Amino acid sequence: MNPERVAQLREQMLARLASRTEKSRAMLEQARRVMPAGVPSSFQDQPPHPIYVSHGKGSQVWDVDDNQYTDFHNGFGVMVMGHANPTIVEAISRAAGRGTHFAAPGECAIRVATELSRRFRLPKVRFANSGTEATLDAIRLGRAFSGKDGVVKIEGSYHGHHDTVMVSVAPDPQKMGPRSSPNRVSYSAGIPQAHIDLVTVVPYNDPDALEAALQANPGVGTMIMEPVMLNIGVVPPKPGYLEAVREITARHGVVLIFDEVKTGATIAAGGVVERFGVVPDLVALAKATGGGTPIGAVLGTEEIMAQITSKKVTQVGTFNGNPLTMAAADATLTKVLDAKAYARLEEAGKRMLAGCQDICDRYGLPAYAVGMSAKGCVMFASQPVVDYRSYTEYFDDDLNYLAWLYHMNHGVFMTPGGDEQWTLSIAHTDEELDHYIAVFEQFAADVTSTGRA
Ligand SMILES: Cc1ncc(COP(=O)(O)O)c(C=O)c1O
Repeated sequence: MNPERVAQLREQMLARLASRTEKSRAMLEQARRVMPAGVPSSFQDQPPHPIYVSHGKGSQVWDVDDNQYTDFHNGFGVMVMGHANPTIVEAISRAAGRGTHFAAPGECAIRVATELSRRFRLPKVRFANSGTEATLDAIRLGRAFSGKDGVVKIEGSYHGHHDTVMVSVAPDPQKMGPRSSPNRVSYSAGIPQAHIDLVTVVPYNDPDALEAALQANPGVGTMIMEPVMLNIGVVPPKPGYLEAVREITARHGVVLIFDEVKTGATIAAGGVVERFGVVPDLVALAKATGGGTPIGAVLGTEEIMAQITSKKVTQVGTFNGNPLTMAAADATLTKVLDAKAYARLEEAGKRMLAGCQDICDRYGLPAYAVGMSAKGCVMFASQPVVDYRSYTEYFDDDLNYLAWLYHMNHGVFMTPGGDEQWTLSIAHTDEELDHYIAVFEQFAADVTSTGRA
């Protein structure tokens, strides 16, 4: 790609976005007076400025300037059920009318736990309020069960914002160290070095590296991983990788956690467990599981979860099993996301991948389409990305950002940054999917031509 052409188009697209989103810009100024960077979470702080959203319905969202978009961002991968889904709205409204919080168990939680247990093939479930809490609880259970403080994680994976997992999330390539023994790189100031020192980092898709790391670090008793990496675009496991991880961790007596916060209830009813048939010791869930309300859940084997029953492990939270969340999750999991819904997400995913791949091929873009079911993206990489290091080597941020600007300027609300992907919902029509593909084609045509956009 010609970098000058990319830069020229970026300036045009940035100017267009700025003129379309003046109220967002003004709101940002107001928000900055009371919130750092003007946003509730730093992940919402995006260049050129955050787009403030007013409301959503089905596949559509509106920003505060009244621009309408088809939503492929879907709340960082939560809204596979579409916005304001009537069944879920009805369930939440009914629950709200009966009292929003008791901190006492309710019947609905039993139904949700039963359904999650069925989907993810693990017998016991506890609730929390976010993915961060779910992975925190899972790691605590793993440490208690193994009797070891050491944790192994995958380089380039995000598991939430508690101390143990804020290591080598998006390390600067200059600081990564050798592949055979990656450095532990903190993702934030304020993480005690003692926590960082307990973490061993290994590359994804490399069972030999995991075997070597466990042999070299006998103090490791827990492994946490995203079984499909979804925080550097989409990186699927190589055939046999998940099975090998299962075998190696079992042989070393290491508790295996699948972080299915993003894959759970999106790439199949039972996430990776269902799609790949590999069952870990613990699964962490959040995001789509709650139907658009804040939820977390940890699922585990009888033996590991018995530590909670016996009070060896403390698993608590004022809002765990909150009635609004449980009502939304119940409606989502037992009524809305049924077999027909997953068949539709599968079909929609294939349509998106085929359409985008065709454009990559026809225009000779250094990119490929990759994904499964509701999750997918165009990887702007000249070579296949198999782990974080190949992502940093091959991924073209400039092209990715330009494609994002094209989408945002042409009625497609899309996640910013190369680390994310699109999330499809059951509300998307084929015409809306084709619109995404058509905008992508316009981007491809402009970026490969020499004329003006
Ligand atoms: C794989 C994964 N795990 C955990 C989390 C943390 O979830 P939450 O933001 O709900 O705390 C995220 C958030 O994006 C995630 O992508």
